[in-house]
Amino acid sequence: MSEPLLQVEKLSVAFGRAEVVSGISFAIRRGEVLALVGESGCGKSSASLALAGLLPPAAEISAEHINFHTGQTVTDLYRLPEKQLRKIRGGKIAYVFQEPSVSLNPVMTVRSQISEVLELHRPEVSDYDREIIRLLEQVGIPDAAGRLKAYPHELSGGMQQRVMIAMALAGEPELLIADEPTTALDVTVQAQILELLHELQKQRNMAVLLISHNLGVVSALADRIAVMYAGRIVESGTVRQITGEALHPYTRALLAAVPELGREQQKLQTIPGFVPPPSEYSPNCRFAARCRFRTAECDAKLPPETEFESGHFCCCYHPGGENI
Ligand SMILES: Nc1ncnc2c1ncn2[C@@H]1O[C@H](COP(=O)(O)OP(=O)(O)OP(=O)(O)O)[C@@H](O)[C@H]1O
Ligand SMILES: [Mg+2]
Repeated sequence: MSEPLLQVEKLSVAFGRAEVVSGISFAIRRGEVLALVGESGCGKSSASLALAGLLPPAAEISAEHINFHTGQTVTDLYRLPEKQLRKIRGGKIAYVFQEPSVSLNPVMTVRSQISEVLELHRPEVSDYDREIIRLLEQVGIPDAAGRLKAYPHELSGGMQQRVMIAMALAGEPELLIADEPTTALDVTVQAQILELLHELQKQRNMAVLLISHNLGVVSALADRIAVMYAGRIVESGTVRQITGEALHPYTRALLAAVPELGREQQKLQTIPGFVPPPSEYSPNCRFAARCRFRTAECDAKLPPETEFESGHFCCCYHPGGENI
């Protein structure tokens, strides 16, 4: 788990004058699961789509680098021409989205959709049907051979999600970017898909960038967690550090909002206030307006990123609510 796979340095994304991601940096090691969590609108999807050039042309992206390591080669995805990026996207880097309808083509059979991925990214495969059946079996689709000719609408939501994962796996990705992969599914199916992702990740030693607004969902799967608020990463660390020793008041508030499994009567705290629109993002601490530990310092300058324990970073003048 020591080799770096992806190193993102100072990534920003803007739509017009609204900067929705502001200079975030993070790294994912080979075989590691990094979760990116935060409330709706904080920029998780924009950041992840920017990595492999999937944002609409209106988006302005800047970065020091987005280095992707394959074998001995380091490729800066930020500077890579679209034509070459296309060879990596869907191949060594694959995406799984919340809505199967985004990835699955309604007028193409399961076989033809997965065949397209094989054609583009797996020249060594000669027997397509055999490989597709193998992939479908791997993602737990019963009667895989019988599903080759199925169209997406003939499958349940959970099955569509499995086909989407099979499509992502078809390119043998080293990095899987899963953006809210289970949010659209009912609770039982959610758990099954998360378990499937977990198994596949371990089997293949595949790195995963798992995006969710739910800290509870990611804790079971992730090695490390990066917490995003209003376009910035405000805290990052191992799952233990984030769920057990959270320092940032925002992380603590998110944790207080996670329902505990098995408890029936629970009083969940909601975080007072809301994420401001990007056009109103502060140059200083963006959480200050909602933070009960706010002092004049928070509104005067951006809190620097400080490493509190090995690998545990936080940007806050009052980590753990101290110094008030
Ligand atoms: N194509 C776009 N054009 C203009 N603004 C956009 C576009 N895509 C996203 N945004 C804005 O960027 C901000 C971040 O959105 P993004 O979808 O990245 O957040 P998110 O953290 O993924 O939220 P969610 O949890 O709801 O998926 C939002 O304010 C959103 O309105
Ligand atoms: Mg999103």
